[in-house]
Amino acid sequence: MTHADFAPVPAAPLPVSDPREFYDQLAGDYHLMFRDWWASSRRQGEILGGLLARHDVQPPATVLDCTCGIGTQALPLAMRGYRVVGSDYSAAAIARATEVAADRKIPIRLVEADVRRLGEVISSSFDAVVSFDNSLPHLLTDADLAAALTSIHDRLASGGLFVGSIRDYDALVRERAGGVMPGVVSVGGEPRIYGQAWQWDEQMRTVRIHMFILRQQDGEWRTVVRSTTFRALRRAELTTALTAASFTDIEWVDPAPDGYYQPVVTARA
Ligand SMILES: C[S@@+](CC[C@H](N)C(=O)[O-])C[C@H]1O[C@@H](n2cnc3c(N)ncnc32)[C@H](O)[C@@H]1O
Repeated sequence: MTHADFAPVPAAPLPVSDPREFYDQLAGDYHLMFRDWWASSRRQGEILGGLLARHDVQPPATVLDCTCGIGTQALPLAMRGYRVVGSDYSAAAIARATEVAADRKIPIRLVEADVRRLGEVISSSFDAVVSFDNSLPHLLTDADLAAALTSIHDRLASGGLFVGSIRDYDALVRERAGGVMPGVVSVGGEPRIYGQAWQWDEQMRTVRIHMFILRQQDGEWRTVVRSTTFRALRRAELTTALTAASFTDIEWVDPAPDGYYQPVVTARA
């Protein structure tokens, strides 16, 4: 075999560091991280709906999903009868969520907003605010995390409920986790491989993730690599930050076989 047997490898896109740019670029492919995104989305709606109901937040209560992305939690909550506003600072993610909502005739309001400054775009208050699947760890500094939690607190009615989920960084740091093992999924005869490689900083305070999506389409394999950084936000750190932002009744729920796949925190405004 000679070099001539190999097609030239296209240059990989430069890694992006701004999470907004990362999610703008990822929006069209976001579902590829799941075996079946819509099935997972509905399951997440069921779990989150159950959790809200156990905290006396029942439809038609008002819910703000302040880091809604393409609508993984916001859309199924709206389908369950909650009056939902979904916000995110990725314009492409909001555009995709809007498309899915229109296709599936789901009543929901979707707006672009930075979680650190929700009040600039959203003036009403809510019975619950949710932020799921490891969104808050994109806020890398204490100041940004504090701004986000204060902004969330300001959007809650008195006694309103905050529910958030983050990766279990306490365990991941202990294990010095290396990433997400690649897995192969085949949908409609088109296989794809998804995985992540993680690079921790020396103190293990942040982790840079490199996300690989390999897809076979029309007989050709294509690879996309995208990178972004998360703060390795420990539970105790988030508890302290929630307390500083005037939240009370802070409780953590561990992942359970029939529950969400990340630790979930609940708190009252
Ligand atoms: C891992 S995704 C989760 C999205 C959604 N909850 C889901 O499960 O599909 C993290 C989301 O947080 C959003 N995000 C990160 N920083 C943000 C900020 N400062 N303001 C608003 N959204 C932010 C990103 O744009 C992205 O959509």
